[in-house]
Amino acid sequence: MGLPVRLFDAVIVGGGGSGMRAALELARADLKVAVLSKVFPTRSHTVAAQGGVAASLGNIDEDNWHWHMYDTVKGSDYLGDQDAIEFMCRKANEVVYELEHLGMPFDRLAGGKIYQRPFGGHMRDYGVSPVPRACAAADRTGHALLHTLYQANLKARTQFFVEWMALDLIRAQDGSVLGVTALEMETGEVMILQAKATVFATGGAGRIFAASTNAFINTGDGLGMAARAGIPLQDLEFWQFHPTGVAGAGVLITEGVRGEGGYLLNKNGERFMERYAPNAKDLASRDVVARAMATEIKEGRGAGKDGDCILLKLDHLGEETISKRLPGIREIAKKFANVDPVKDPIPVVPTCHYQMGGIPTNYHGQVVVPKNGNPESVVPGFYAAGECSCVSVHGANRLGCNSLLDLLVFGKSAGEKVIQDLKQDGKSHRALPNDAGELTLSRLARLDGQKSGERVAEVSADMRRTMQQHCGVFRFPDLLTEGVRKIKDVAERVSRTGISDKSRTFNTARVEALELDNLVETAVASLVSAEARKESRGSHDRADFHQRDDANWMKHTLWFKQGSRLEYKPVHTQPLSVETFEPKARVY
Ligand code: FUM
Repeated sequence: MGLPVRLFDAVIVGGGGSGMRAALELARADLKVAVLSKVFPTRSHTVAAQGGVAASLGNIDEDNWHWHMYDTVKGSDYLGDQDAIEFMCRKANEVVYELEHLGMPFDRLAGGKIYQRPFGGHMRDYGVSPVPRACAAADRTGHALLHTLYQANLKARTQFFVEWMALDLIRAQDGSVLGVTALEMETGEVMILQAKATVFATGGAGRIFAASTNAFINTGDGLGMAARAGIPLQDLEFWQFHPTGVAGAGVLITEGVRGEGGYLLNKNGERFMERYAPNAKDLASRDVVARAMATEIKEGRGAGKDGDCILLKLDHLGEETISKRLPGIREIAKKFANVDPVKDPIPVVPTCHYQMGGIPTNYHGQVVVPKNGNPESVVPGFYAAGECSCVSVHGANRLGCNSLLDLLVFGKSAGEKVIQDLKQDGKSHRALPNDAGELTLSRLARLDGQKSGERVAEVSADMRRTMQQHCGVFRFPDLLTEGVRKIKDVAERVSRTGISDKSRTFNTARVEALELDNLVETAVASLVSAEARKESRGSHDRADFHQRDDANWMKHTLWFKQGSRLEYKPVHTQPLSVETFEPKARVY
């Protein structure tokens, strides 16, 4: 028997920043929009973003989008697509002012303008010195942003499906996307949400690592669904390790701390970033700082009783500044590190934070795949935005506070593109294929029918351990090869997981098993892509290939689940209206 079907103009999977920004555009255009979210939308992971959203408003110091673009291209280690980067940096002021007009409670300067703070890799005058570019609401910018967008969506009458998990994409014979299957967690009911446009805004998969700043919901659901449906995953070898996760707990301590004047110390009390990045120091880009910290620890200069962390000092900022600009991190430090940063430094370590890769899209949010010799053929009806997508504006390393910008700019542009596409040929829904929903039903039937099997918790712990040991800040050839073997073994075990609770109502064991299906696709893609890339670029640092190799590797990776096969496609080096930023040595 087929699954029940509900019809929408657009289905958006994910209720974080990019999903809600896209939804706002669509609901305001009077389209019938459904936003599916595994959690209440304001609990989506965007809420955890702390330090700010990048825009060259120039409220404190002179700034412009071209400098921002240069920093982003350089930060990406020349793997970012320069058309998309120009698009994003030029749109930044507009999307920030839109938020302001929606009521976002930004911090203010004395004259009333939005407060901005320096952030890693954001410089004035093509790399000369740090510029305040992160528009901030204390250290709770993501929280303020998400609540602002939620309220605007309520006003625009967006329909939210809360505690619903999308399970699989539905594709027509010709490859067009016609919607998703989804599980209502409360009842256990599964149905088809059919749509003229399907927008993935499912966030990242940072939970593939053992130490992560990511929420437990960040299980790469969009990536898993896309991979199972034959869509490749792009550039997943590039994982960002945020320099300052609380040691042992993983919770994020914003780069805004260093933006406000905090700095890192090794066990000797040395401000070691002066050696690694003499100009930008603690405000070099994240890959550079994370590697410097890992090197200090590796070479025996780590702090703490086991010498395995670095100290983040900010007491010199004074209690007033800390309470005003960084109230959240003071709470976090007390709770998770047992220190009051007004008096003592916070023990921190590089911690998995962000996936630069994802579902390949263009800067209109359309998903693109290789087809008939065209490396970027549009998949009709399918769009993606935010961390689950790879536009690619972050290339091999994202700059801090460009993620909130990315989700605003590309959430909006995906919404605009859907409206335009539906005006052209979106009058009615296409017929569903006869096998619509079958993949989902067979996945659920396997879990329901399994009498015994691998335990989900154990297999997922092995996945996280494998990623942490084999695909971290520094990468070694033998560990990568071994990692590929291990993660493929983990993937085999995932296909044999079993759950003992077969109930329907709010069965979190079933949800976790389904999430693991998605996590493992991301993990396999990451290790296979990392093992194959024989160079060091951005966050991908190989012990056997120390240098960036533009002649052979300035190209994007595409991993296909079917056969765990890799293809490559060129980087867009041509911006929209300005000269190309040619690759050069990247120093800070
Ligand atoms: O450090 C932070 O506040 C994180 C920001 C980001 O990842 O963009």
